[in-house]
Amino acid sequence: MTFPTHRPRRLRQSPAVRRLVRETHLVPSQLVLPAFIREGLTEPLPIGSMPGVVQHSLDSLRRAAAEAADAGVGGIMLFGVPSVRDAVGSAADDPDGILNVATRAVVAEVGDALVVQTDLCLDEFTDHGHCGVLRADVPTPTPHGAGAPRGASGRVGPVVDNDATLVRYGAMAVAQAEAGSHMLGLSGMMDGQVAHVRAELDAAGFTDTILLAYAAKYAGAFYGPFREAVDSQLTGDRRTYQLDPGNGREGVREAVTDVAEGADIVMVKPAMPYLDVLAEVRAAVAVPVWAYQVSGEYAMIEAASAHGWIDRRGAIGEALLGIRRAGADAILSYWATEAAGWLRDGL
Ligand code: PBG
Repeated sequence: MTFPTHRPRRLRQSPAVRRLVRETHLVPSQLVLPAFIREGLTEPLPIGSMPGVVQHSLDSLRRAAAEAADAGVGGIMLFGVPSVRDAVGSAADDPDGILNVATRAVVAEVGDALVVQTDLCLDEFTDHGHCGVLRADVPTPTPHGAGAPRGASGRVGPVVDNDATLVRYGAMAVAQAEAGSHMLGLSGMMDGQVAHVRAELDAAGFTDTILLAYAAKYAGAFYGPFREAVDSQLTGDRRTYQLDPGNGREGVREAVTDVAEGADIVMVKPAMPYLDVLAEVRAAVAVPVWAYQVSGEYAMIEAASAHGWIDRRGAIGEALLGIRRAGADAILSYWATEAAGWLRDGL
């Protein structure tokens, strides 16, 4: 049936009607605030490429967590920036490492009001910036690559050693659980990481620690500002472990695999360039599906708004709602606390 029988505009005629027929809603508890804690800071330090976001000191992190809780935000995801790095990321599973210290502080401050989550990956802690430990038998070429020796496999490095990295993730998981983290965000994209971490946690008695698997995490340019935020040491890229932007089915496969390995929640990341993957993952699994609105997505809207080229609040609200509409049950967003404030009045 067509016009004049069908007049879809009937349902758009007033704010009251539009509100009543809106399909997708966003509430503060569906937002998670990612936050950076840097070792040794006494004052928060602004991050140039993420206006409004800082590297926190312990005190400012506690305050940010309390503000998020007051705003009704659902959780906080902590990232650590250590002052000393090494090849295996030793600070990651050190109980006195900055991320574990910060976790204890945040849990003590807001542990009943927010789900306290920790990033489980080595990239912030390694001196080469990769998400895992490197294979010693594969040579790394000189900057110009000329005549670089090749390993027995014929490959040139750096090559991240999957199974050796799992051992490090297992130790890191137990250290984070001991520090009181409620949920571990497995963001390293190693094969088998969910199964391995689940087994290590269970063996140590942490059967209640929740696993959020960054199941479909794509390699690309949208993490640029984050690399500044965590003072990343990476040269090169992560294309041997993060997904190729052209591959949607592979993202679904990763999510299904992670659920089979025991993931409690799966995530798609970045969010906006991958809404199709988000929708397909939502249809393929029965666990909660989250999305990460990453640093580059944040920086683009902030930069355009600062120029007066886009309406900031409108763009943020539309981006968050679009991510929900595509299938995200919850969203990691650097705007979580601010947006939660707006949501009290309705987006
Ligand atoms: C890895 C990790 C990254 C992000 C979250 N966890 C960076 C990467 O893969 O290089 C990016 C988040 C963002 O860009 O906001 N520990």
